[in-house]
Amino acid sequence: MSDPIYIKSDPLYDSNKYMGYFIIGLRGSGKSALVEKYAEKFYCDGRIVVDLWGASGRENLFWGVKGKTQYPCLIVHSPFVDVEIPKGQGKWYAAVSGDESVESIIKRAVLEKRVVCFDQNSYQGFEEECYKKVAEFLSELPRVNMDVVDGRMVVLVREASNLLFAHLKVNDYCKFTRAPFLSLIRESRHNRISFIIDSQRYKDVYSGVRENTDVLLIKRTPVTTLPDDMSWLPKKIKYLRRKAPFRFRYSLFPKLGELKPEEYYAVFPSTNIVKLNFDLPGFYHKREEDNFSRKTGILFKSNGRKPVNNVCRREDGVILFWFQLTQLRE
Ligand SMILES: Nc1ncnc2c1ncn2[C@@H]1O[C@H](COP(=O)(O)OP(=O)(O)OP(=O)(O)O)[C@@H](O)[C@H]1O
Ligand SMILES: [Mg+2]
Repeated sequence: MSDPIYIKSDPLYDSNKYMGYFIIGLRGSGKSALVEKYAEKFYCDGRIVVDLWGASGRENLFWGVKGKTQYPCLIVHSPFVDVEIPKGQGKWYAAVSGDESVESIIKRAVLEKRVVCFDQNSYQGFEEECYKKVAEFLSELPRVNMDVVDGRMVVLVREASNLLFAHLKVNDYCKFTRAPFLSLIRESRHNRISFIIDSQRYKDVYSGVRENTDVLLIKRTPVTTLPDDMSWLPKKIKYLRRKAPFRFRYSLFPKLGELKPEEYYAVFPSTNIVKLNFDLPGFYHKREEDNFSRKTGILFKSNGRKPVNNVCRREDGVILFWFQLTQLRE
């Protein structure tokens, strides 16, 4: 077994590489904070950040909320709500309807250096439209990144199992998002797109996605939730702990179930592992009790619009016309 190196600085971050990060851990173990920490580094290095999916409660819209720092956001909301942004928030928040094309949304975000935050909450009651818009993002982003903005991009998906569910059916809409996500991941290096996803359980995420990530980051997690083919991991941690200087054994190599919110293990395909620490991101990380509208004064009001499912397509029109004509003749 090769020894891992214990390094303070982060060996995983390289702004010139196009990496896939997969973060797993129990509820509240600090997965989303870690997603944000990496994404913040990318943003500060000039990448286009698309925060595509968050837990309910608009956690992926908090980039513009003041912490040690804050970043300008472009909220992509459903066409079924109007968004009111108070004057004082104009610098940090702008909004665009999901009716707009992915290309124009990204162009604007690049021009104004804003983080793109997709607000799935505003699609409540219109889940199909929500998943279809996410699917559109996933399939369009590579083209837009390469042909239109010529940029380097990072796509964030928290609670990835909602979009990429492996087995249980939360809903049927994953059928829209799974294939484009998989192809985005497969081609990510060629399209200059990194991605960071998190999930509570490793196995909940579609295997094609799991197998295409470059590094697995493990937050506090019970050994029992690990898949069988990773049973070597706790054994290896135990082995390394035994070899470490006595005083530092548990701080260098804690048990997986005892990791603190600021700690995580990075597991590489080579089966090398490194234990790392991180600080919370500079912008405000959403706590359970936080309400986005109360925190920012930004309001989302239903505008009474509905999805247009019964649009009469051209060929329908011809059939209808023919039918009416035959009715008239009779
Ligand atoms: N690096 C850190 N330093 C200090 N505290 C942290 C750190 N990371 C996370 N925390 C604490 O852990 C809490 C939970 O973090 P986070 O929301 O990222 O968890 P999560 O695993 O995404 O939870 P969920 O499964 O519910 O989405 C944070 O609100 C914060 O208080
Ligand atoms: Mg989370």
